[in-house]
Amino acid sequence: MSKPKVLVTRLLPEKPLDLLREHCTVDLYDKHDPMPRELLMDKVAKVDAVICLLTDGMDRGVIEKCYSVRAICDVSVGYNNVDIAAARERKIWVTHTPDVLTDATANLTWALILGATRRVAEGDRLIRKGGWTGFRFDFLLGSDLAGKQLGIIGMGRIGQAVARRAQAFGMDVAYVPSARKRKRPMSRFDDGLRATPMPFDELMRTSDVVSLHCPLTPETHHLIDTRALSLMKPTAYLVNVARGPVVDEVALARALREHQIAGAGLDVFENEPTVHADLLDLENVLLLPHIGSATVETRTAMAQLAVDNCLAVLQGRRPPTPVPELTDLPIYS
Ligand code: GLV
Repeated sequence: MSKPKVLVTRLLPEKPLDLLREHCTVDLYDKHDPMPRELLMDKVAKVDAVICLLTDGMDRGVIEKCYSVRAICDVSVGYNNVDIAAARERKIWVTHTPDVLTDATANLTWALILGATRRVAEGDRLIRKGGWTGFRFDFLLGSDLAGKQLGIIGMGRIGQAVARRAQAFGMDVAYVPSARKRKRPMSRFDDGLRATPMPFDELMRTSDVVSLHCPLTPETHHLIDTRALSLMKPTAYLVNVARGPVVDEVALARALREHQIAGAGLDVFENEPTVHADLLDLENVLLLPHIGSATVETRTAMAQLAVDNCLAVLQGRRPPTPVPELTDLPIYS
């Protein structure tokens, strides 16, 4: 029997790729940039499964070309790049990579919280520009965290991991119990967490740091808009490691420029890799190039999990981590 064919849209770590090659014929697009859409449309028509990244738009148009695809395996936890309804219509499993990236992403969230509140990048830029003239008592003053409130929007796995770390910094944690009009099942809640549920507006008004961990859905698109930002304290910070379009970047840049809020830390942007020019000009925003899960160990584990998911579907088993909306699809024999 001939091996199933799998399209891999980006260069992945060697070990998971080798495992995939043992069982499948692999069509690897061995570039670091996303595959052009026309090529993606052409290639998906010839394979039994696709392993892709969050930058691959697996929209209805592409999925309609997936004539014999049984699984689309995203190497990411967020899967807003895949049209789930279109996948369901064609009975295509969609899988993602939760859990394995939780700690890395929660750690990067804290890098942004600490970096923004202690003005780390500003200090680095200043030294490189030769602008440091000596120790001063009132220089580059930031904000303490102990006794302050961390407000978490999106209390799933990553939100909870961020909340657990807050205890080490002496912060109180508040969270919005479920994102507005949430449609997907909530991940298991850690009952040991000392965290206070709060309505969205109250959390925005009372938090000293607001950290975003919700998925991007039609309901969360521009959840942080001019109105939401106007609720925040002038001393508060916004951190986004979720998805760029959850924040209206123009509104955020205005709020930062006019010091309506103290600062922000962003790992994701509305139109990646473009960063809104208004943000680039501001000192009070810390910018990172979407590296939430970017450690060697975590990226290898993510690729491995995507390969495990892919092989499970192709070998007639239930994939380990299907997206929650599609857990009821038939197992292919
Ligand atoms: C990264 O943004 C991911 O969703 O894994």
